[in-house]
Amino acid sequence: MGPSLAYIHHKHFVHNINLIRNAVGDRKIMAVVKANAYGHGSIELAKTAVNSGCEYLGVAFVEEGRELRNANIKTPILVFGAHQPEHLLQAAEHDLEITLTSMEQLTKFEHLLIGKKMKAAVHIKVDTGMHRVGVQPHDFEGVLKSVLNSKVFELKGIYSHFATSDDMDDYYAKSQLHKFEEIHELTLNYIQHDIQFHMANSAAIMKFPEAYFDMVRPGVMLYGGRPGPDFPLEWDLKQVMELRSKIGLIQSLEANESVSYSRRYYTKDSTDIAVIPIGYADGYSRALTNKGEVIINDKKYPVVGTVCMDMIMADLNKNSGCSAGKDVILFGESGDLKISIDDIAKKTGTIAYEVTCNISKRIPRIHLY
Ligand SMILES: Cc1ncc(COP(=O)(O)O)c(C=O)c1O
Repeated sequence: MGPSLAYIHHKHFVHNINLIRNAVGDRKIMAVVKANAYGHGSIELAKTAVNSGCEYLGVAFVEEGRELRNANIKTPILVFGAHQPEHLLQAAEHDLEITLTSMEQLTKFEHLLIGKKMKAAVHIKVDTGMHRVGVQPHDFEGVLKSVLNSKVFELKGIYSHFATSDDMDDYYAKSQLHKFEEIHELTLNYIQHDIQFHMANSAAIMKFPEAYFDMVRPGVMLYGGRPGPDFPLEWDLKQVMELRSKIGLIQSLEANESVSYSRRYYTKDSTDIAVIPIGYADGYSRALTNKGEVIINDKKYPVVGTVCMDMIMADLNKNSGCSAGKDVILFGESGDLKISIDDIAKKTGTIAYEVTCNISKRIPRIHLY
C-alpha cells in the first residue's frame, strides 16, 4: 500500500447518525451515500448506516444503487436525479426506487414498464425552488393522479430539495418549505396509504425541524462536514475522513532558495524541507500552494511552494526532529491540533463535499470500526 492513506472512522459516522436520530426521533433517515459516500466508500458506509438504523439510502445514479445491491444491501434505495426511461428500467430491475421528475418522463417510463410487464417503486420530486429537477408545483396534481391511476407505479414518496438551506438568510428556504407544505396538504386529499414526504438535507436538519416531515436526507453532516463554509455549526459532528501520508525525504536548503515549480516560495533562512508524496492527483488541491498546513509530531508546518501532481513540500525549519518515514496529517487531528476538511474547503474556495469527493482512487480507504 502507498504511503498516503485515508482513514475512515466509522465510529464518527455512527456518532453523527446518532445525533440525527436524537433530533428526528422515529422519522426515517435516508443516508445519502452517492458519489462513493462523498468519497469515503459507499458500500462500507452504506452498511454501517443500515446497521446504525438508517432506513433508506440515497444515490445519484442507477449504477451506484446497483453496486449497493450487488453488495447484498437490501435496504430501500432511492435514485435521485433525472434519468432516461431506459435507466429507470434498469433501476426497477435492481429493486431501486426511482425519481419521477416530469409528466413526459412518467409517460415514457410507464410504456416501457407495461411492455416489460414490470412495476416500479417511485418518488415524485417537486421543484419548489431549486429549479434543477422536479415537477413544477402547478403540474403536480396531474402527475400525482397519473401515478395513482397507473397499474405499474407504486408511489413510495414525494420530495423536494432546498437550494439555500445553508444560507444565513432563511427567506428563500422558508418559501420552498411553504410550497412543499402545500403539496403535502394537497396530496393528503388523494392518498390513503403511507408514503414518505421528505425534504431536509443536512443544513435543514440542523436548522429547520419543521422540514423533517416523514424522513430526512442527510449527506455532508454524516461525514462530519459543514453544509457551507460559513455555516454556524452547533452540532458536535465528528469528521469521518482523516488523510495521512509519510515524509518521503528531507531536503536541507540554504536561505533564499526557491522550492517547487514556478519558484513560488523562497526559504528565509537555512531550513529543512519535508517532501511528502501526495499531490493534486490524490485530491490534495493545487489551490493549497503556499496555503496548506500539515501536522507532523504534534506540530503544524506550512505547505510551501506549488503543490505538484504527486508531491508537496512543508517547511520544517531547522532541528524539527522529523525524519523520513514520519507520519504526516493532511487533515485530521493530533492532540489539540486539528486540520478540518472545512478549513481545507475554505482555503481552497470550495465546500467540504468537494474536498472528500476529490480524494482520488490512488488513496486507499482504510475502514476503522
Ligand atoms: C436530493 C438530495 N438530497 C439530499 C442530499 C444531501 O445533501 P447534504 O449533503 O447537503 O446533506 C443531496 C446532496 O446533494 C441531494 O442531492
